[in-house]
Amino acid sequence: MSERALPTRRLGGLEVSALGYGAMVLSPGVYGEIDDERAERALNAAIDAGATLIDTSDGYGADGHNERLVGRALKGRREQVAVATKFGFRLPEGVAPHPFPVGYAFGELGVNGDPQHVRGYAEASLRELGTDRIDLYYPHFPDPQVPLADTVGAVAELIEAGLVRHLGLSNVTAEQLRAAHAVHPVAAVQIEWSMWRPAEPELLAAARELGVGLVPWSPLGAGFLTGTVGRVAEGDFRQNAPRFDEANLKANNDRFAPVRGIAAELDITPAQLALAWLLHQDPNVVPIPGSRTPAHIEENLAAVRVDLDATVLARLNGILKETNVEGGTLL
Ligand SMILES: NC(=O)c1ccc[n+]([C@@H]2O[C@H](COP(=O)([O-])OP(=O)(O)OC[C@H]3O[C@@H](n4cnc5c(N)ncnc54)[C@H](OP(=O)(O)O)[C@@H]3O)[C@@H](O)[C@H]2O)c1
Repeated sequence: MSERALPTRRLGGLEVSALGYGAMVLSPGVYGEIDDERAERALNAAIDAGATLIDTSDGYGADGHNERLVGRALKGRREQVAVATKFGFRLPEGVAPHPFPVGYAFGELGVNGDPQHVRGYAEASLRELGTDRIDLYYPHFPDPQVPLADTVGAVAELIEAGLVRHLGLSNVTAEQLRAAHAVHPVAAVQIEWSMWRPAEPELLAAARELGVGLVPWSPLGAGFLTGTVGRVAEGDFRQNAPRFDEANLKANNDRFAPVRGIAAELDITPAQLALAWLLHQDPNVVPIPGSRTPAHIEENLAAVRVDLDATVLARLNGILKETNVEGGTLL
């Protein structure tokens, strides 16, 4: 058991704390200054504060760096958490990447979801994570050149073999979710979803209908919704995202002032309001905020206990509906 148990939610057949922890921020080149010692402190802080879902990917950091960090932090505490990782970015020598255009923030990604490589990806991730099983395993992006059903079929074989416990999907449409779920039950779908990035209603409806959990990524709007981002520094990936351009960021910060005003009224932080708002969208939503800072991690996880009544939710939704965000989306 973790030191401080949080309320739990279900992602399909997997039960985890209602808020998880996203580890992407812990590899260099994403959100600014970080080193491995600070990363380890952050991961331990998340687990100490009761997070039982840690989200990583074979594509975060160079050459499996992020999974290695998670593996190191989990030594001796593996049983306390479910580990979610994703595949398709870290290709073995000689495997051709297929271009996946995702827009400005990440540019064009190379993925390969060919089923013949999936076992190799999983074995590499298991080695980096220092574990014998992945609790939740996602193709990071559907490969445009491989039917998703084929990629998912390969994960189903890993589940059969005991290397993986649950299947997840990331960055998919409602149609792709339905097709994959027909091959093997999907436990969770991970999508960008936050107060400044609405989710596709068709996808939400399909997930509810099929009993699939929803894992919002960048639930704090890549930091924006915390109300603390005035500018982004050199080397921060948000420099490539028009939402974070100096002029757009200022306009967006001004437009979200009424949202921050509601947080102040409720005596909670804007970050807590952003996470509580997501938690109130559906009982099977499990956001995965990321942070390098133990105090932020504790603040974020405390949002599981924030109760937003119907009046507050209606006011917030009214404001969000009227608030145009400048600068497109992250992906
Ligand atoms: N499936 C996908 O394609 C995909 C894509 C992107 C992300 N993800 C997943 O989603 C996870 C979370 O997303 P994310 O890290 O991009 O964005 P996020 O959680 O929305 O925001 C992270 C940023 O917010 C800041 N922050 C966090 N809590 C704060 C607080 N209480 N007060 C002030 N600032 C705070 C962090 O800075 P500090 O470090 O200073 O706290 C960091 O810069 C990732 O770790 C990854 O696992 C998945």
